[in-house]
Order: sequence, then C-alpha cells, then structure tokens
Amino acid sequence: MAVSPKTYPHNVTPSNRTARPPLPLSYSNRRLLLSLGPFPVRSRFFEALTMALIVEKTSAGREYKVKDLSQADFGRLEIELAEVEMPGLMACRSEYGPSKPFAGARISGSLHMTIQTAVLIETLTALGAEVRWCSCNIFSTQDHAAAAIARDSAAVFAWKGETLAEYWWCTERALDWGTGGGPDLIVDDGGDATLLIHEGVKAEEEYEKSGKLPDPASTDNVEFQLVLGIIRDGLKVDPKKYHKMKERLVGVSEETTTGVKRLYQMQASGSLLFPAINVNDSVTKSKVRYVIPGSRILGFLLFFVLLVFSHSHALDLQMLWEHITDMQLFLDLFHSIVEHMSDLCSHLILCCGSNNTCFLFDNLYGCRHSLPDGLMRATDVMIAGKVGVVCGYGDVGKGCAAALKQAGARVIVTEIDPICALQALMEGIPVLPLEDVVAEADIFVTTTGNKDIIMVDHMKKMKNNAIVCNIGHFDNEIDMHGLETYPGIKRITIKPQTDRWVFPKTNSGIIVLAEGRLMNLGCATGHPSFVMSCSFTNQVIAQLELWKERKSGKYEKKVYVLPKHLDEKVAALHLGKLGAKLTKLTPEQAEYINVAVEGPYKPAHYRY
Ligand SMILES: NC(=O)c1ccc[n+]([C@@H]2O[C@H](COP(=O)([O-])OP(=O)(O)OC[C@H]3O[C@@H](n4cnc5c(N)ncnc54)[C@H](O)[C@@H]3O)[C@@H](O)[C@H]2O)c1
Repeated sequence: MAVSPKTYPHNVTPSNRTARPPLPLSYSNRRLLLSLGPFPVRSRFFEALTMALIVEKTSAGREYKVKDLSQADFGRLEIELAEVEMPGLMACRSEYGPSKPFAGARISGSLHMTIQTAVLIETLTALGAEVRWCSCNIFSTQDHAAAAIARDSAAVFAWKGETLAEYWWCTERALDWGTGGGPDLIVDDGGDATLLIHEGVKAEEEYEKSGKLPDPASTDNVEFQLVLGIIRDGLKVDPKKYHKMKERLVGVSEETTTGVKRLYQMQASGSLLFPAINVNDSVTKSKVRYVIPGSRILGFLLFFVLLVFSHSHALDLQMLWEHITDMQLFLDLFHSIVEHMSDLCSHLILCCGSNNTCFLFDNLYGCRHSLPDGLMRATDVMIAGKVGVVCGYGDVGKGCAAALKQAGARVIVTEIDPICALQALMEGIPVLPLEDVVAEADIFVTTTGNKDIIMVDHMKKMKNNAIVCNIGHFDNEIDMHGLETYPGIKRITIKPQTDRWVFPKTNSGIIVLAEGRLMNLGCATGHPSFVMSCSFTNQVIAQLELWKERKSGKYEKKVYVLPKHLDEKVAALHLGKLGAKLTKLTPEQAEYINVAVEGPYKPAHYRY
C-alpha cells in the first residue's frame, strides 16, 4: 500500500517515522491577533509532531497522509449510512453525475475531514473532479473517514489531533498539485487555504522586488510564524509557486461566517485575488436579514428624491393627487414604494460588503444536536437539573440554549445585543452578565464569535467541576493562556479533549473541553449528516457555478451569494426524506400573493 514515500522541504522535522498516539498536548502562551489584522487565529503551539510528515501513496498512486488506513472499512460503513441522510448530495450525484461536469477540474478542500465531508468529496469526484483535502481544524478529523477517502477516492492529509505545524503542512499538501500550478477550485471553511495563497503571493511579490524572504521571527504570532516558514521554504524552491496557483484558480466557495468575513475584508481592500461564493449566506445554510438598520430611512429619502426628480421633469403632482382619491390606497402605495426603496438600499449596502447580519440555519439546528453530543461524550454528565450559561444568543447560541433547555437544564444567556436579549427573554430565558452567574452555573458554553468571553478570573470563581466549553469557530473565546499560566495550576488530562484544571489552594477544578476550541467537533462529530447535506449541496452548486462560468467573465474578483431559487431547490431536495409533501399554489393564489407558481416564494428581504 505505502509505496514511494515523498518528503517535503519544511521547517519541521519528524520526531519519529511511525504513527503513534498523540503526545500530551501543549499550548501556545499568547493571544495571537497580530499580523492577520482583525482575524482571530489559533493559539496552540506545537512542540512535537504526532506523525511523520511523509506523504504516502496508495497502490493506485494517490497521495495521502492519515492516521490509520486500516480504519477505511469502518469509515466506508459510516459513509454509506451518511449517504442515506444526505439526500441533497445524492440528488446532485444523480442529476449531474452522468455528464461529469467537473471533468478536468482539480478541487482542493480545507474543511473538517468528517464522514459528512467524505460524502461531499465523493460527490465532487462522482461529478468528475480530482480532489485533494485537508481539515480546517486540528481536532475535527474523523480518522476512519479520512482513511476511507484516502483509500478510495481522493488525496487526504488529515488526522485528529494535529499540531499546528502538522496542520499547515497538511494545508500545503492539499494545495500542492505538483507541476502545473495548484487547484482550479477551493472549498474553504474559515479561509485558511485562501489565506495561505494570498500571503504566498504577497511574499513572492516582495521577494521579486527586494529579494527579501519572509521572516517568521518578524511576528509573535506562533501560527503565522508557521505560515511564513512554509512560504519561505516554498520560495527557495519555486519563487512563483503561489503566483502560478493564483493564475490557475477559478475561485473559492467559503463555508463559514469567519471565512466570509475575511473574504469581504479582502474585497473591500481590493486584495481579493479570485472570485468567491459565500455559501454561508445561502438561506439553506443561513438566514440573511436583508433589512439593514437605516435602510428604511434611506428608502424614505430615496423616495422623496425620486418624487422631486419626477416633479421637476414630467409628472404633474397635482394631477397625480387628483387621481388618488382614496386615502388608504395612497398610504398603501406610499408604504409599498418605501418598502421597495428600503430593499434596494439594503441590497446596495449588502453589495458594498456589509455582511454583519446573518442567521445560520445549520448553526441553529446543527449545534442544537451537537452541543449535548459533545458534552455527553466528553463528560457523560447529566444535563437535567444543571444551570447552563450560554454566552451569546445568535443562531449558535439559540441552538445551544434550546438543547440545554430540552435536556432539562435551567438556562441563562449573556448578551450584548438588546434584540437577541429580548429574544431570549421571550423564550423564557433570563439574560444576565457572566459575573452575576459565574459561581452558580454548572455548564458554560461560549458561542459569540468574539474574544475574551470567559477569562481565568471567571474560571477560578466557578463551582468545582464546572464544565467550560466553546462552540464558536476559533479558540479565543476562552482564556486558555490565562488558565495555563495561572500560578500553581494543575492540568489533568482525563482523555483527549477533556481536561480538568485544578486551582491551587482550593483544590477546586473546572473541566475544559477541546482546549477551548469548538467542542462539538473536538469532543463529538460535529453537525449531523442531514443538516450538512443542506450546506454541502450549496457547496456543490457553488463549485459547479464557478467552474461552468470559468471562461465567461461572469464572476469578478468579488464575493457573491447563490440566487434564491437554488436555495429553494436545496430545501426541496431534503423534504422527501422527512416525508413532507408541499402544497401546490394555484395560479390564482400565486397571483394574489405576487409570486410565480414555481417560486421563488418569498421576496429577497424575507426573514425566515
Ligand atoms: N461549532 C460549530 O459547529 C459552528 C457552526 C457554525 C458557526 N460556528 C461559529 O459560532 C460562532 C457564532 O455564530 P453565530 O452564527 O451564532 O453568530 P451570531 O453573530 O449570530 O451570534 C453571536 C452572538 O454573540 C453575541 N455577542 C458578541 N459578543 C458578546 C459578548 N462579549 N458577550 C455576550 N454575547 C456576545 C452577539 O451579540 C450575537 O448575538 C461563530 O464564530 C461561527 O463561526 C460554529
């Protein structure tokens, strides 16, 4: 099976050439928010490698690096189970598979290497693509899924418990298509693959101009040091490596809020190197609130500008007024025009990159499922009767609070936003600052996408064995640095991703899950197949769209969302599986509510 191993120039050396269980984990000692501007980054140091960084090959000649290829049969069985739960992806296979629309396309993915992702990968290959893959999180790989894909379908570089150095080595491998540049398309989750290419191109331009190589010592950011090291080593071998990748790339489809934020920032600064489709804000992945604060006022203003304009040009307002004899009719007309103007303003604002108001569909239902799953697998603690604090009541927070409530916990929410706070109250959930409840609660979950939410000062006031975990994308919501450097603190690893941290003197401890990273992927298996089928069907459609339009110039170096009728299609593909049957609109009804019989059924501004 493993023939002609290939080593790569790299700034890390394997500690040992055979696979072995992960070493006890180590931490970075800083909050790392430096060279990447506003982007949150991971804070975990690497001190030792868990795997020899050697690319292996299957008998078919496909490259891979996974923990244990012998788990492939187990992975295959679970992939087959997941296929039944992922009707959207399977429908893509039947609809597009025969024509092989991806023939000749190279797709690189950086997205949690789970069973559900395996079904996505095999959908892409069924449509004709060649695929290389890595995970977008050091803890999220399911090793049996990686093994099955490596053996059967695509080049995979991923294992559970990667160090940061290993993580970036895997990312680099997923983008490495040998001679002839890199991938044609990227499926990204969080934006790390996109980031590596952008940083690579920047460094190559600097090298060409001044002969200067990137210097890892120029930053305190441990993770960024690794990125710079990789780029520096690559430059020595091929000073145009990332330029060639950029030239070849047709575009990226991005899975999550954090990655989308990065893309919009790049679009705003003019530094985005290729087109991007924001899959995150598809309705079947998320719920975009198109009505943006202030847009009604803008709509009003726009209405009056148009009124004055039409008056000064052609329309006789006196005559118009005479025709509007019915006051109610006038008010309806006025209201409708302002609404349309405000929609227009909202769209204009959104098009300018204001992507701050999305409610995620899979976040709500996915986290409602996977939070308790992670809690139970990690601790097996009884949730009923406990007090659970959910920090942040956005969509992830709503899913988490609902799950804890349904399991019998008493839930308290912390919020900064009065609207979300009011929503919590309307669900019967008290809203209080963390400081007020820190000593009473048993389970703490951060879901804010913000930083510095639970600090060490909070943790030391908690009850003995209070559970502290994060389900937000990055690792900076919980103050792990403060915890690990607390004088006299003792860490007891109960099992991987479940640690008890014992404070000195009191001997009171807290249980931290997944080292402060997203616990539903670290301690459980992430979102279930059905909800991921919705998100991943959007991914396939986005990739197809980018590939189909690769020569037409339809997509510029900007960020796009998929049209609404495709969202409805994705939802429709999932109804049958749940035994639902839609009511058919009559033409009269359709006309009455002003939609087409075949949809879309809601205006763009509709909030689901
Ligand atoms: N683990 C997963 O499977 C998973 C899935 C999807 C999204 N995510 C991540 O979860 C995070 C949240 O996503 P979301 O869609 O719910 O975002 P959101 O913006 O809808 O919700 C976050 C909420 O936190 C609140 N908040 C911000 N700072 C706060 C503070 N200091 N204290 C209390 N509340 C605060 C905000 O007001 C907001 O209501 C993001 O990082 C996202 O990428 C994780």
